[in-house]
Amino acid sequence: MPKTIIVSNRLPTKVQRTENGLTFQPSEGGLATGLGSIYRQDGNAWVGWPGLFLEDAAEEDFIAEALRTDSMAPVFLTEAEIQEYYEGFSNSTLWPTFHYFPQFATYEPAHWAAYVAVNEKFCRAVLALAGPEDTIWVHDYQLLLLPALLRRERPGCTIGFFLHIPFPSYELLRVLPWRAELLHGLLGADLIGFHTFGYMRHFLSAVSHLLGLPTQNGLIETPTRTVLVDAFPMGIDYERYAEAAASDAARAHERTYRQALGTGRVVLSIDRLDYTKGIAQRLLAFGQLLGRYPEWVGQVSLLMVVVPSRDQVPQYAALKQEIDELVGRLNAQYRTIDWNPIHYFYRSFPPDELAALYRLAEVALVTPMRDGMNLVAKEFVASKADGRGVLILSERAGAARELSDALVINPTDINGLAEALHQALVMPADEQAQRLDTMRALVKRYNVFSWAKLFMNQLAYSKMKQHTLAPD
Ligand code: G6P
Repeated sequence: MPKTIIVSNRLPTKVQRTENGLTFQPSEGGLATGLGSIYRQDGNAWVGWPGLFLEDAAEEDFIAEALRTDSMAPVFLTEAEIQEYYEGFSNSTLWPTFHYFPQFATYEPAHWAAYVAVNEKFCRAVLALAGPEDTIWVHDYQLLLLPALLRRERPGCTIGFFLHIPFPSYELLRVLPWRAELLHGLLGADLIGFHTFGYMRHFLSAVSHLLGLPTQNGLIETPTRTVLVDAFPMGIDYERYAEAAASDAARAHERTYRQALGTGRVVLSIDRLDYTKGIAQRLLAFGQLLGRYPEWVGQVSLLMVVVPSRDQVPQYAALKQEIDELVGRLNAQYRTIDWNPIHYFYRSFPPDELAALYRLAEVALVTPMRDGMNLVAKEFVASKADGRGVLILSERAGAARELSDALVINPTDINGLAEALHQALVMPADEQAQRLDTMRALVKRYNVFSWAKLFMNQLAYSKMKQHTLAPD
């Protein structure tokens, strides 16, 4: 019976070395939840990096065995590989380019070489598990070359690829010295999925401009195969967020926070530390709100959670400093003896505390400069069963295509953002309920499970089509 193998840079379990030995921490992430029922099925597997550097061979066997019992196969990476493939090419070349920050991109041949080598390493790990007729679903920008590498070795496999970040305009992509290799890498797949039609159009245009291949109705004709391209907006596990928000644990945390904050109203912001998220602009807009509408001083606080991320990449460290300074300046400017404008947390929160933050917040500020999808926007909507709350959403987040009942803003327009904040704070209850209801129905229906199912069905279909179209 053919198997399904999921491949991503990170495994859905993080292995860590602590004083008490190795710990195995399952990921709370949406992808892990959405694909849980697939990779845990008999014979299936998830291939990826477990998040730690090996100390010796015995450790390697121990970790591999422990992960195998939960259908996972580790790809171990060295510190040099993480530096050059992950911090380097993935996060200092591809990430800034695909998010429209070319000024942050570096173009290091050594990073490219490491990216090729690590994609080949992942390929070997998958080949060790994959039979000739298996289905392989590859995820995200760290593994753009993998579909073609796998195709070369396993021509009969069904190969899918999903990109979790934006696909940029051809004008951005063409700057990369390795653009053609990257596109050829992807074209090893039978089906390539994006969050939005916009990203998909950018990809098709890049393929026709840079490779000169015919693309029609989402089909790309390579000399040997047909590749299907489509949009699959990713969702969340709606019930999990709705239930977490209604749970006793979340209510208890909410009461504690409420006591600490008094009667103050709360605007919430939650992101990984990343320059794509527009965190500094959001802070400036909040400052403008307080300057322009002094009635909110002492009344509204910004609760800002920034989750540490990629701190070895120089731009991330610089951004951390910029945020620290801005928060300090704004708090010093506006605080009163018994009120703080900004409550800033530089850490992650456990799920029941996050649920409490979603309950507490009247407004969620999700204002990235660019974001493939942004699931925080959907989590906020799912957590607001009582119909109270306003989502302010950047038009440059993939989620804005679906959540058009949010207050959709241009994140560069700090004035407009401050105005949207004011509008959110004075929005009548029935308008809040109306907007949230429409968005909630959508988030509930197009959840992460239907997303995975749709992709897998379309992947099976693309393979069928491949057979009918294949030259004799
Ligand atoms: C984004 C990417 C993922 C990545 C995640 C966390 O969502 O699309 O591929 O795993 O960020 O980043 P990290 O670098 O810590 O894996």
